[in-house]
Amino acid sequence: MNGREQWASKLGFILAAVGSAVGLGNIWRFSYVAGESGGAAFLLIYVICIFLIGLPVLLAEFTIGRKGQTDVIAAFTSKAPGKPWVLGGFFGLAASFFILSFYGVIAGWVLYYIYSYFTGTAGAVEEGGYGDFFESFIGSSGGPIFWQVLFMAIVIGIVYFGVKKGIELSNKIFMPLLAVILLFLAGFSLTLDGASEGLQFLFSPEWSAFGDAEVWSAAVGQAFFTLSLGMGAMITYSSYLSKDNRLPSAAGTVVVLDTLFAIVAGLVIFPAVFSFGIDPGDGPGLIFVTLPEVFNLMGGGGTVFAIFFFILVALAALSSAISLLEVSVAFVMRKFNWARKQAALVVGLLITAVGIPSALSQGGPLTEATIAGLPFLDFVDTLTDMYFLPLGGLMIALFVGWGWRREDAFRESDLTGSSIAPLWIWFLRIVAPLGILWILYLNVVNTPFFQ
Ligand code: TRP
Repeated sequence: MNGREQWASKLGFILAAVGSAVGLGNIWRFSYVAGESGGAAFLLIYVICIFLIGLPVLLAEFTIGRKGQTDVIAAFTSKAPGKPWVLGGFFGLAASFFILSFYGVIAGWVLYYIYSYFTGTAGAVEEGGYGDFFESFIGSSGGPIFWQVLFMAIVIGIVYFGVKKGIELSNKIFMPLLAVILLFLAGFSLTLDGASEGLQFLFSPEWSAFGDAEVWSAAVGQAFFTLSLGMGAMITYSSYLSKDNRLPSAAGTVVVLDTLFAIVAGLVIFPAVFSFGIDPGDGPGLIFVTLPEVFNLMGGGGTVFAIFFFILVALAALSSAISLLEVSVAFVMRKFNWARKQAALVVGLLITAVGIPSALSQGGPLTEATIAGLPFLDFVDTLTDMYFLPLGGLMIALFVGWGWRREDAFRESDLTGSSIAPLWIWFLRIVAPLGILWILYLNVVNTPFFQ
């Protein structure tokens, strides 16, 4: 594995891992899923899943990655050649490919909103008109593809320059910027009239929701997605590490910052939603239709708020998309012995092409071309979030929990001698796998594929 790049600094790795975790998942996905699933109860269950399943599996991914110093597929095979673990790697590779294909589409919508607020068209929409504004955009053909391709071009451009000069550098700029914009927006939102109602929605749970299987299954899906778990993004990033990072504290930092980011994004969005009497359960259109209505009602400052908000979302999406592309690029570089630049271009373009049917499926010409009753984008999203990520996570937990010798697992994760070491192993062996299997069962019973 000579000639593989490494992160230039400890902070560089942490920021890149946080950059991967913090993305559309924390803002777009978190807000609409939390909104649909009742707010506070969902938030609590989600935090439980983050700590019971997310944190142990994240540390397992870091451990596999740094030990293997290679891509997802080889990371599974080099330790135990010929064993079924490599399936986890294949799920991961496929998931990274498909998630990025639709992620680019949604991030493209965000770029279009930035553009439309800058040129004034979005700000000039009449009250109540954002549903039409959004639908006429996503229902066209050229628009969504143009913005998707533009977004993917930026992603490819950054991965093209490599681990240090592309990924690490961009994250060092994006992450602090994100934090500043987010806090600024939250500060503003909390001065709105609906702030206390928004806070109540987010923090005062209805206990009956704890018996609702769908809330649990939404929470586990969200936990995997938001932590970039279950498909080797974190394995790939930690494969560029040398020995000097402490993995448990790195994993803890990523989990805490990612969760805080989602909660603060909730503080930006829900006070605004309640101030203007809007239904938080509006679904995936929440940040594209509902919030713009709110920005509109804010008057002149609304446009400024909107521009900062969508720039925030775009930067967060960018740093996550980079990590998704890097998974397949790292694989192709090793497997076919390609140079990084060639790998980034070819794989990136292929993923962009696979995303085009998704871009055309939301009211555009391919809306009726459904798979299992779902438009293409929704199908790919559901398939990856509900099946591939949990299955990948299951393989990762079992691989380290049962496939490695305990001493090896402790040493490679920097947990030797620590009192949480045995706890971690039992979470990987029993708690996380049972939790994941239970959720997979619920998903099979509840999703359209199997009805
Ligand atoms: N975690 C990112 C988000 O919240 C998305 C993401 C990046 C991702 N890499 C991933 C999701 C790997 C699943 C797996 O937007």
